[in-house]
Amino acid sequence: MGLADEAGQPGRDARDRRRAERLAAAMFETLLNAIDATDAQTGAHVRRVARYALIIADAADLSPRERHVVERVALFHDIGKIHEALFDLIHDRARLTPTERKAITTHPRRGAAVLAPLAAFYPELQRGVLSHHERWDGRGYPRRIGGPSIPLAARIVTIADTIDAITVARRYSTARSFDASLRALQEGRGTQFDPELVDLVGLPPVAAALRLAWRDSTRARGRHQRPAERRNAERTVARWTPDVTFRWRPGVWHQEAVERALHGARAHPTPGRRRRRRRR
Ligand SMILES: [Fe+2]
Repeated sequence: MGLADEAGQPGRDARDRRRAERLAAAMFETLLNAIDATDAQTGAHVRRVARYALIIADAADLSPRERHVVERVALFHDIGKIHEALFDLIHDRARLTPTERKAITTHPRRGAAVLAPLAAFYPELQRGVLSHHERWDGRGYPRRIGGPSIPLAARIVTIADTIDAITVARRYSTARSFDASLRALQEGRGTQFDPELVDLVGLPPVAAALRLAWRDSTRARGRHQRPAERRNAERTVARWTPDVTFRWRPGVWHQEAVERALHGARAHPTPGRRRRRRRR
């Protein structure tokens, strides 16, 4: 190897590394697009959960690497729910039988199976997705592990998932307030949830940041509108779900990204417009 090659090597390594990072980010974004395309409701849910989870991760002072793990586990925690074996059960409006409910509890394993090819590169992602329904007291599923044996990212996502589950209307439950979700976390402190994380979420600045994020999504869903308006708002829910800032490009609002892909540059938000929307 000549001197020129030796001198050029560090630059090439850095370029290769950047390219590999961009490829990985593009792959994750594609996977998220596939979730949106299959099930927009789940796509919106996982984005809201990721937003809450990142607020908790920041409050816990996690490193940038751990923060990425939390974000990925949040974004893909329910990927097992879009499995064809469960999709109809999840979207069917009829009340679920005990057997059907049991079938839905297979979604963490199904999700981990979908993500298996990535396990060599992102082992924490698969473990986190597999563990997001475990409980601190060991009475969760699928492995019934408890306490610190549950990966930290999964413990954080469980809390973020609970905030979203309580504050968003489901088939058999109406949306409750953000304070109700904080109370539920307190009630499950040390049984369902990691007690230290519950205490962290209860700190006024952390609760305030989560409340702001919740208010954004509530406004987006038109909670206080009349039923017809609310239905309309539900249809456009994806427009107002937080986007993910993939490292190689600035964050854009999810629906705008979709519109841009479908209709070209016309739908590209101006910087002013984007700033206004982010403040909501
Ligand atoms: Fe789940």
